[in-house]
Amino acid sequence: MPVTASAPAKIILFGEHFVVFGEPAIVMAINRRAYAKATLRKDRRIHVAAPDLGLAGTFEKEKFKAEQGSPRKARKELEPVKLAAEKVLAKAKSNTGVTVNITSDIPAAAGLGSSAAVAAATAKAVSCLLHVPFSAEEIFNVTCEAECLVHGTSSGIDPAVATYGGVLLFKREEGFERLIANENIPLMVGNTCVTRCTGDLVTKVRQNKENFPTIIEPVIKAGGEIVTQAVETLQQGDLKRLGELMNLNHALLYAVGVSSEPIEKLVNTARKAGALGAKLTGAGGGGCIIALAERPKLRRVKKALDTAGGNTFYAEKTDEGVRIEK
Ligand code: PMV
Repeated sequence: MPVTASAPAKIILFGEHFVVFGEPAIVMAINRRAYAKATLRKDRRIHVAAPDLGLAGTFEKEKFKAEQGSPRKARKELEPVKLAAEKVLAKAKSNTGVTVNITSDIPAAAGLGSSAAVAAATAKAVSCLLHVPFSAEEIFNVTCEAECLVHGTSSGIDPAVATYGGVLLFKREEGFERLIANENIPLMVGNTCVTRCTGDLVTKVRQNKENFPTIIEPVIKAGGEIVTQAVETLQQGDLKRLGELMNLNHALLYAVGVSSEPIEKLVNTARKAGALGAKLTGAGGGGCIIALAERPKLRRVKKALDTAGGNTFYAEKTDEGVRIEK
């Protein structure tokens, strides 16, 4: 019998970029998920298919044979899934292989953590298929390794949200702490559909900091202060203040150079349509924005964002990290 597992997408509520320089960040799992369906094979191969991306191929030790899509792209995109499956097979000391079928309702390459969700779901599905105990911590570690293949290095934000779900406070040196957040955080995600490279944007901020240390360093510190205040505000459920903090956070991200015309268009559209606050989420340069609005205004904000080309969806907090699907 095949086993299907899923894991959630993430948004960064507060603190992206400043987190790279040691300030805290708040991340939240949302109700969009990636799914991995694992089936046992009699041979020792690992077959991975991602039909939504038009990619499929089979790994046999270090060899790879593409069955759908360009061999280079297929290998690059499917290798993290293979790594997650392989780690579990190794722990199980299994003589079999697996077929892993990936589907996802998380927009890819938009800063929403889709690759981490896929890797976490794969590790969970394969471990359950093989009846090998695999703790949340092991899933987190394997997902971090898979993310290193995708992004070079991983701060661990995406693997943690995909594994544990909920709202997490992250600090580079200290790791994660679960935050108790008010249930009702009515958010919309708007996608500029502009692709960008996280590493390039991190480099841009670093260069700005080196060129203008006395200006940019206080901005980074202020970003940390926003997170500290947002932790309290989330616990109180004060949406108006949360929106103001989002606007302040966005202004700081603009100051360090990671906003863009498409982002500004969506952020301003959301605010004009009645959002309490709006900001870019993730690395910026393109990717997604988030907008907070009181429930009665959500529909209006969504419509305005869609008209502005924002490809918008409602994002609800989910406390469920990686899980088996019934
Ligand atoms: O857009 P994403 O999910 O790649 O977000 C990157 C977040 C940064 O703070 C810019 C980088 C990091 O490693 O934390």
